[in-house]
Amino acid sequence: MRAVHTVKEIREFLESEKNIGLVPTMGALHAGHEKLIQTARAECDVLVVSIFVNPLQFGPNEDFARYPRPLAQDLEVCERNGADFVFVPSVQEMYPLPQVTFVDVERVSEHLCGKFRPGHFRGVATVVLKLLNVVRPHRAYFGEKDMQQLLVIRRMVSDLNLPVLIAGVPTVRESDGLALSSRNRYLNAEERKAASALHRALQEAANRIQAGEQDAAKVRQGAVALLNDSGMIRVEYFEIVDPVELQPVDTIKGPVRIAAAIWIGTTRLIDNVSA
Ligand code: PAJ
Repeated sequence: MRAVHTVKEIREFLESEKNIGLVPTMGALHAGHEKLIQTARAECDVLVVSIFVNPLQFGPNEDFARYPRPLAQDLEVCERNGADFVFVPSVQEMYPLPQVTFVDVERVSEHLCGKFRPGHFRGVATVVLKLLNVVRPHRAYFGEKDMQQLLVIRRMVSDLNLPVLIAGVPTVRESDGLALSSRNRYLNAEERKAASALHRALQEAANRIQAGEQDAAKVRQGAVALLNDSGMIRVEYFEIVDPVELQPVDTIKGPVRIAAAIWIGTTRLIDNVSA
């Protein structure tokens, strides 16, 4: 495995390679990331993991500065899972000039996290397009845990005819249902315990829909009440949306996504399920 820091070098290394897989990450790798890396390893000849904490996707009051950066451990995780290259550019390398070109994926970015993190998906889509142009993978892997991100990327690739296949990988969870996340390490023991309510509330909402409930407001109310019960959770959003453009649904007549964001102390967690 080789760690590569510049655009020029990674392009040179990959110049004549076929069937390249890319797993874009911001590091602080956990078993969720490992699942992406393992899936890519099984499907591609050359495996590239990128580690880049992208300033463009963080708001001014978000956790860019305190985001964990355990690079030595991350390189071990990549090595253990068979990565050929780890692309670790600096901010200066990715943004040598002030960025004035952006990708906006409208509608899909409008609700859920898009509403509460203005500019976030623009930052994500822009950096992912840059990474796709640098690495030129045949396949790129994203987690269903960040469902809105996955759909934003899929739509960008489709709208812009990008020659890459986007693979979605199911969410890896702890035994109590909490989705693995780099941000879980911000939680203290009490907060960690309360965090399991997020997946429980989503699952209960999905169960009610599967049992025939069509009124989205009723499903939502029940789930928000469950989250409020713990006394430690502030619900940012809990929405039932269509699975293509993620627009809110009032009457549930077909497949939907149920997505939520909560705050526990100073930590923001997101998760989603299908129903
Ligand atoms: P990051 O949060 O590091 O996540 C990297 C990838 O791992 C994303 O595709 C995310 O959905 C996936 N992932 C995270 N937790 C997961 C879990 N529990 N199960 C399955 N997959 C999981 O998402 C980003 O970085 C950035 O926005 C990025 C795409 C790299 C652009 O900067």
